[in-house]
Amino acid sequence: MATKPKFQAVKGTRDLLAPETALWNRVEQTAHEVFATFGFGEIRLPIFEPTELFARAVGGETDIVSKEMYSFEDRDETSISLRPEATASVCRAYLEHGMQSLPQPVKLYYIGPMFRRERPQKGRYRQFYQIGAEVLGGTDAPAIDAEVIEMLMTYFDKVGLHGATLYINSIGHNAENCRRGYVEKLKTELAKIKDNLGPDSQRRIDTNPLRVLDSKLESEQPYIERLPRIADHLCDECKAHYAAVKRQLELRGLLYQENWRLVRGLDYYMRTTFEITAPGLGSQNAVCGGGRYDGLVELLGGPPTKGIGFAIGEDRLILSLQECGKGVVEQGRDVYIAWMGEHAYAAAIRAAKDLRNAGFSVELPPVEQKFGKALGQADKLGAKYALILGDNEVAEGLWTLKTLLTGEQQKFPEPDLLEFLCQQKKVSS
Ligand code: HAM
Repeated sequence: MATKPKFQAVKGTRDLLAPETALWNRVEQTAHEVFATFGFGEIRLPIFEPTELFARAVGGETDIVSKEMYSFEDRDETSISLRPEATASVCRAYLEHGMQSLPQPVKLYYIGPMFRRERPQKGRYRQFYQIGAEVLGGTDAPAIDAEVIEMLMTYFDKVGLHGATLYINSIGHNAENCRRGYVEKLKTELAKIKDNLGPDSQRRIDTNPLRVLDSKLESEQPYIERLPRIADHLCDECKAHYAAVKRQLELRGLLYQENWRLVRGLDYYMRTTFEITAPGLGSQNAVCGGGRYDGLVELLGGPPTKGIGFAIGEDRLILSLQECGKGVVEQGRDVYIAWMGEHAYAAAIRAAKDLRNAGFSVELPPVEQKFGKALGQADKLGAKYALILGDNEVAEGLWTLKTLLTGEQQKFPEPDLLEFLCQQKKVSS
């Protein structure tokens, strides 16, 4: 049995290995392409920020900030945290770079790792990756909410994720309007059923009562189902906004399900919230979460600014694609060059260069191998073709190409070989 290596990746983190990384690249490339068609530009953000930024934006009482952040004191005694999410950073950057003076709204997207010290399980890691987008400034027209969701669904479609379900809700207005009244009412009702709730929910009655609605604890479900619903407490403006968002989704042919318990685990949301679940993920099936956060830029010291966005859990997206058979990535090389002899080696180097320039993946063994061994190696690497080059082939000017799947061998003059392979590539793509 192999001994355990001395060093291993820290719990909840992992190495992403080839060939799976090719799938990660495909998923990210598709995001770049689709988001550009909706007018979004990429922003690259720091991995760590002042702890205070997240405490203020995400909320000091949220699980993310109170239990899951990786925080440390920097050498100058300031408190720094690895980012648990990126919406706060985008808003910080929006203000820091005076983006209010650009044409509004500003549409930004990001791709990168986030850090939360959660209990690791399938689809849940301590270092995970998000693909997110934010729209900042301009109006809070419901068409923006719907277009952001349209972009997401277009992206999922392009990336090959099928069977995703879109859930939406409105959690009303943050301040003096509907939400405050609803939360008070919720607290009163929760106090009445306190003894029937588990310790987490009991604690949340005071710290974050909306989050009780998120509970998955089986024994609490009958009680939660009977709690007052925010839809019945929305003010006229929020009600109209929510109705218009639904109309705008319908205009775009987007199917949705309403879920009154969709409150999200970050404090900055108001009005529209949404989540998307994907098949094949087990209990961690939310592949994307997002919503509107009109007060957030102001909370960070900026002027009143509208905002809405989402983040896709890239790890979960990849898992779901793999579970649904859409995560297959091309393995192996196109051509393995089996060469023997000094003259053949010079020709092999030339062939490798020409083939690689034409976009083929080529393996050129660094030392001479007997042809039998070389062909075995080509098979192991999953090569499609072996190019056989001995001194005879070079002297004759005819190169042998073996199709490894069929065993068929053909001879080509050097200039025709590349042309043949290019044609084959066209046929198979
Ligand atoms: P969130 O719901 O906390 O929202 O995270 C978004 C997505 O990230 C989740 O739906 C999930 O797919 C993925 N995710 C979260 N935690 C983990 C984890 N520990 N392991 C693997 N995947 C995970 C936000 O982060 C907001 N900033 C989204 C947003 C952007 N709202 C407005 N703009």
